[in-house]
Order: sequence, then C-alpha cells, then structure tokens
Amino acid sequence: MRAAVISADSVTVETVPDPTPGPREVVVSVAGCGICGTDLHIAEGEFAPTLPVVPGHEFAGEVVALGADVTELRVGDQVAVDPSLYCHECHYCRRGRGNLCERWGAIGVSTGGGAAEFAVAPVANCVRLPDSVTPADAALIEPLSCAVRGFDVLAPQLGDHFLIYGAGTMGLMMMELAKRAGAAGVEVVDLNPARLETARELGCTATATSADELDRPRGWEVVVDCTGVVAAIEDGLGRVAPGGTFQQFGVANEGATASFSPYRIYNKEIRVVGSMAVLHSFERAAELFAGGAIRPDVMISHRMGLEEYPAALEQFRQGVGRKIQVMPHK
Ligand SMILES: NC(=O)c1ccc[n+]([C@@H]2O[C@H](COP(=O)([O-])OP(=O)(O)OC[C@H]3O[C@@H](n4cnc5c(N)ncnc54)[C@H](O)[C@@H]3O)[C@@H](O)[C@H]2O)c1
Ligand SMILES: [Zn+2]
Ligand SMILES: [Zn+2]
Repeated sequence: MRAAVISADSVTVETVPDPTPGPREVVVSVAGCGICGTDLHIAEGEFAPTLPVVPGHEFAGEVVALGADVTELRVGDQVAVDPSLYCHECHYCRRGRGNLCERWGAIGVSTGGGAAEFAVAPVANCVRLPDSVTPADAALIEPLSCAVRGFDVLAPQLGDHFLIYGAGTMGLMMMELAKRAGAAGVEVVDLNPARLETARELGCTATATSADELDRPRGWEVVVDCTGVVAAIEDGLGRVAPGGTFQQFGVANEGATASFSPYRIYNKEIRVVGSMAVLHSFERAAELFAGGAIRPDVMISHRMGLEEYPAALEQFRQGVGRKIQVMPHK
C-alpha cells in the first residue's frame, strides 16, 4: 500500500507492506486522515519514540479485514478510531488515567497510523458510525474527543462566560462545545482575522485580535488557551474572573515558561487546569459528532490526496486553512 512516512530527516510517500491484523485488531481502509500539530512535532523529531513512522492519528474509514478473534465488527462497517494506546497496567492506568500512562502511545505516533491506504487498529479503539455520517468527515471525531476531555476537566457551569484564545480547529471546537454546555457567551481572540471570521460564522458572541477590545471588566469565568503561545497564555491568565478557571489546552514548547501572578491565583481563587488528549471521551465525541455538534464543511478547509501528504503538512505549518485532510483513496 501507499503510506506517508516520517523519517528523521524527511517526509515522503512510499510503498510499504500492507498491514495485517492481530487477533483482536481490524484493518481500516482510510477514508480521511486529519493533520495536526502533533504530526509537525513528529516531523521535527520531538515526539515519536521511534522513526520512521507512518503518521496519522485522526482517521476514520471502512473495516476491510478482521483479526481471528474479532466478533464485534464486520467487514464493511464504517468506524472512527481512537488512537490512544494505554498499557492498562501502570500506576496511572490503574487509577483510570490512561492518558497519563507511563507507556503512553498512539496509533500514528508510536505505531503506524492513518496517513496510508490502510491502518490497523485494536477493535477496542473502533467506534462504529451511523450511516448518516460521512466517514472522511468522521476523522474530526478524534480532535473533538480531545475537546470533550477538555470539558470534563473544566466542568463549567451554566451561564459561564468563555474566552478562548486561538480560532484554529481546536479553539472552534471548544467554542462549539461551550455553546452546547450552556455558556452565557463565548468570545474568541486570535491574531489572524481570517480565522476570526470563521468563529463569527459559527456563532460566537464576539471576536477580537486582543482581549482589550472586549468589554468584560470582571473577566471571564472560563479562559481556554488553544494556541500554545506564551504571549496568549500570559494574557489569558490575567483575564480569568475571580473564582474562575484557566485551561491550558494548547501545546506549548516543552521548554517554554510563562509568568503569572501567584498572588492573584491565591487571592481570587483561580483554578488552573490542563487537558491531555483523550480520556474516556471518544465514544461521547462520536455521538456528539453524529448529532451535528460541529460542522465538518467549515472545520475541514482542505482535502488532498495521499501523495500530497508532504505538501499538506507544509501547508499546515504555514497556518493556511483550518483542518487539512488527506484522502488516501481519492
Ligand atoms: N490538549 C489536547 O489534547 C490537544 C489536542 C489537540 C491539539 N492541541 C493543541 O491545541 C492547540 C490548537 O490546535 P489547532 O489545531 O487549533 O492549532 P492552530 O495552529 O490551527 O490554531 C492556533 C491559533 O492560535 C492563534 N494564535 C497564535 N498566537 C496567538 C496569540 N498570541 N493570541 C491569539 N491567538 C494566537 C493562531 O493564529 C491560530 O489561529 C495547539 O497547540 C495544539 O497542539 C491540544
Ligand atoms: Zn491531532
Ligand atoms: Zn499505563
């Protein structure tokens, strides 16, 4: 089969052996595979434990082969794949915190992923899709499941005011979930006016290139960073209303540091929380997605063929468009 391959010093598309399923695995013919910051990190040598690897942790498609002991799925089923690979044995797994697994891995990060004609997945990671869902669109379920995890940690209240930094795919998904979660308002800050236009199209309360332009003197009960950029994080931390919550959702560089006022965190009882990938949130994201929680036609800005994977990754690096997908069988 054809597959994108990230090696130490190159991103290529090559012919590699077809995958075969283990006893409790299936082979998925990939309809669509999204590109995100994690893929860039892998290409920059920051993330994947072993290279070369076939990237792609955001994918969905059709089951085309079953392992010997798979009874839950049939050939022809459309599925979305939770890429998470937990060991189920370590300290954190035993505490129900698989996303913090000491041997954490993911399909498309530590094993071959969906930027290929075919990918292998444990049956336990597959969620069957209803007929109403277009399989390529369903590649958005993975990022949505990260946003759902974000909300599990946030645990907002009805009537909270949200301020979201970053109107990329993740900021827009957080915005959509905030509306569903009963936010009184969702305001979005981004430096890129084109991205703010999309946030407005999707019905946020207000947008700005700086939170200074927004009129909320008491601050926001919930502030979410979906940029990973220190300037945004430092600005956002100072905008949290007394008693409110700041969430670090964006992925900053590992060595980055940000400054904040510990006095204000103490004196105004501000909660600062993280959110890492997917935890028991994929199934719910799949159902929310099937129910129309996000608009694939707006979220997915570009679709390309698999052979264009290196160009697609480069385009993502340039920040052109929103979610970019490769469609290996188009
Ligand atoms: N926590 C998780 O589980 C999880 C999951 C997926 C992605 N992420 C991270 O979430 C972040 C967002 O992902 P994405 O795919 O939407 O990325 P993206 O690059 O498409 O969007 C980021 C947006 O932030 C904006 N931005 C940059 N600096 C800014 C600033 N100073 N102020 C305001 N806006 C600024 C950019 O213009 C861009 O529109 C990334 O850091 C990504 O790695 C986290
Ligand atoms: Zn991703
Ligand atoms: Zn573990």
